[in-house]
Amino acid sequence: MNFYLTTPIYYVNDRPHIGHAYTSVACDVLARYKRLSGANVKFLTGTDEHGQKIEKAATAAGLTPQAMADANSQHFRDMARLMNISNDDFIRTTEPRHIASAQALWKKMEAGGHIYLDSYKGWYSVRDEAYYQESELVDGKAPTGADVEWVEEPSYFFRLSSFHEKLLEYYAAHPGFIGPESRRNEVTSFVKGGLKDLSISRTTFSWGIKVPGNEKHVMYVWLDALANYLSALGYPDNTPDINDFWPADLHLVGKDILRFHTVYWPAFLMAAQLPVPKRVFAHGWWTIEGEKMSKSLGNAIAPQNLVSEFGLDQTRWFLMREVPFGNDGNFSRERMIQVINSELANNIGNLVQRTLTMIHKNAEGKVPAAAIISIPCQDILEYYNNNMNNINFTIAGEGIITLANRCNAFIDVQAPWKLKKEDPEKMLSVLYSIAETIRKISIILYPFMPESSSKILALLAVPEDQRTLDHLSGSYALKPGTPLPPPEPVFPRFMEKAASPSGA
Ligand code: MSP
Repeated sequence: MNFYLTTPIYYVNDRPHIGHAYTSVACDVLARYKRLSGANVKFLTGTDEHGQKIEKAATAAGLTPQAMADANSQHFRDMARLMNISNDDFIRTTEPRHIASAQALWKKMEAGGHIYLDSYKGWYSVRDEAYYQESELVDGKAPTGADVEWVEEPSYFFRLSSFHEKLLEYYAAHPGFIGPESRRNEVTSFVKGGLKDLSISRTTFSWGIKVPGNEKHVMYVWLDALANYLSALGYPDNTPDINDFWPADLHLVGKDILRFHTVYWPAFLMAAQLPVPKRVFAHGWWTIEGEKMSKSLGNAIAPQNLVSEFGLDQTRWFLMREVPFGNDGNFSRERMIQVINSELANNIGNLVQRTLTMIHKNAEGKVPAAAIISIPCQDILEYYNNNMNNINFTIAGEGIITLANRCNAFIDVQAPWKLKKEDPEKMLSVLYSIAETIRKISIILYPFMPESSSKILALLAVPEDQRTLDHLSGSYALKPGTPLPPPEPVFPRFMEKAASPSGA
């Protein structure tokens, strides 16, 4: 089974913050999960480098747009490495492969009679890279709060209005196309309200892809940007990637850019006679300690800061666990420490640590040779799979915690430290049974925390080629007698560094 999923491509007007890391980590969790379940995955991320917003930011910084794009695109690449994102490709919209592809898409839409030349007169927000109707403005600003400016210029238009019915039919025939459900209703009612033709070129600046056949115009940055999902596969060539991976299985995006992905993008694709992606899922937005994250408030958190203070897997886990996926959420340092300590240090970490230490001391550091007492986990594995497939990472993670809780409760009830004298055979059975359940927990932890999962699986001497969902079954249970490496802590408890007495 092939599975193609994408993050949005990030604007290069600034450096990455945790909002961006969030989108990428969520996609990565799904990409790793799909690989674990045997799919042939293509996972794309990259940077969105053209348009007025980038040009303006570059001018303000005294740089050429290309220089700013080069520097910030590299920061997004670094963020992907930092967060352990397993993308298979990284596309930049300034690359020749993308430019050629976006122009080919334009020509295909034009050849179908979906593009005409006219002039645009109306409001534009550079921050949002979006056109707004007069009626949408709130106190002279975009509904997002962004400033708008009046634009009057020659422009090519896309006949979006002619896709009104086709889009509604598509949504009705593909109820899974837009998620979560509440967002589907939002988009459907927006389209029901009527669609105007869309301005898809600009003439008042030049930082963009030239319109084929009329070099005075550059393409509207959203048409350019959306085309990345196809250009990375080699469109318009009939490449193996196009055959295997188009239409995309999932575009995972933030709620702010859902309309571009569920109205404009499918209409562009229909106009170019290309299949429409199977699913677009919108996640919510993070605030920081109750405030909107913004440059002017200076409260944007760099992913690097969280990773260096709390650890990589701890950061990935917290981002996925704190907010039900799809909802808005708030980042608070206090909550981050609570989640890390209660779910990772005290629960999973403690479970692994105490079990492996007891095995080390009482079973000669080998997988105990004893009968297994089964700890129920089939229900959790089903719950986990259903929620992962439904893009409900938060709840899937809760399933893992529930299973770890069950193991901890099992240890407390069985009290292997007592059994040591009373019934050593049973003690070995208890330790073996827990170790075997930890093996399962670590396999399903992998998409969230790849490094820690691998570390625990190594402590259990699970061969590297036996760590997929297929290996959850009892036929791959830990082999009695296998020597285990000395136990090591996996999730240390996070402790605030004590403030120095001088307050420095
Ligand atoms: N360049 C466009 C996307 C083009 S896709 C063809 C863009 N870029 S962005 O850099 O502004 O945003 C990229 C992603 O980061 C979006 O999914 C957006 O929702 C997400 N986030 C940016 N700030 C965020 C938060 N404060 N919280 C959560 N996600 C946020 O839009």
